[in-house]
Amino acid sequence: MAFSLDISYIHVLFLAFLTIFFPLPTKGDLIDDVCAQMPDNKPLCLDTLRADPRSNTQNFQVLAQISFDAAMKDASGLPPFVESLQISVRDSGVKERISGCVRNAENALGSITQAKQFLESRRYGIAYENARLANNTLSICGHTFLTPPAIEPLELKQAFDRSEALISIFMVVTRHMF
Ligand SMILES: *[C@@H]1O[C@H](CO)[C@@H](O)[C@H](O)[C@H]1NC(C)=O
Repeated sequence: MAFSLDISYIHVLFLAFLTIFFPLPTKGDLIDDVCAQMPDNKPLCLDTLRADPRSNTQNFQVLAQISFDAAMKDASGLPPFVESLQISVRDSGVKERISGCVRNAENALGSITQAKQFLESRRYGIAYENARLANNTLSICGHTFLTPPAIEPLELKQAFDRSEALISIFMVVTRHMF
């Protein structure tokens, strides 16, 4: 009796030890942590990272790659999309501002494209800086519409907000890596 009690006691201690030092892998935690850092765009962040099958492996390298690819894909579509918006606008003031936004989108795409090589060579600090530059460049477009009477077209605002949010996910991830 005393013998079996000892065994079960050791057993419990051993289990406690395992639980403390080798916690069960909790899938989703890293993504939750990352997305909690961008409360305004949390659903987009969770969707973007979770939807990619590569996120079965949860580490910062993988999340950096996923968020980069999403940001890059989106940024590539932005200049032609903004250009297409310009065509349907009559007001010359708005047209002019949108044409500035096309340039912002092109420059941002240039910066995010630069980030790719640094991501590949694991120079995360410089990759982050390029993404930050891209994000700042995109925010110029919205600022040009702050002065009346020009009203920013809703589709334009949504497209830029989405692009900035996707780049921001990459920034939040890479900020942990240098
Ligand atoms: C990206 O730019 C937007 C608009 O300026 C800003 O609100 C956001 O905080 C920036 N993202 C990051 C991660 O700094």
